[in-house]
Amino acid sequence: MGQKDEQFLHELGTGALLHDLGKSRISERIINKRSALNPYEFEIMKKHPKWGVEILEGDEDFASNSVYPVLQHHERGDRSGYPNGINFSEMHIFSRIVAIADTFDAMTTERVYQKAIDSFPCLKIMFSMKQAYDQHILRCFAELMGPSGLLEI
Ligand SMILES: [Fe+2]
Ligand SMILES: [Fe+2]
Repeated sequence: MGQKDEQFLHELGTGALLHDLGKSRISERIINKRSALNPYEFEIMKKHPKWGVEILEGDEDFASNSVYPVLQHHERGDRSGYPNGINFSEMHIFSRIVAIADTFDAMTTERVYQKAIDSFPCLKIMFSMKQAYDQHILRCFAELMGPSGLLEI
């Protein structure tokens, strides 16, 4: 994205690394469950963004902008995300970036509950979800992986 500001990159990187910190409050039974979560378990899982913020609150070394991806990485541009159902314009730039990186990682990594898919099909699915993922950021992300000609989807 051409961003070279060190503070921006540092704050983004810190928030990205800690985005799932709130999962430390969720039992291993739910985190490692091999089948789909039931509605009750999913309600608990949906608390991890806010719990992450709670854990980091009052930590003076943690820049305030780094909190955004912790709180908003499961938000989607079409308001289908959680915890607050906000849209793109309400999502911080860090959150729009981390939402893409996190989804790509989740889909392309073998999980206890689902098989990994390849990078290209994953990008294709994400490009098709125009309302959910920031298309400009997604394009920048995809271009990191190869010639953009491949990506005229
Ligand atoms: Fe998460
Ligand atoms: Fe995550």
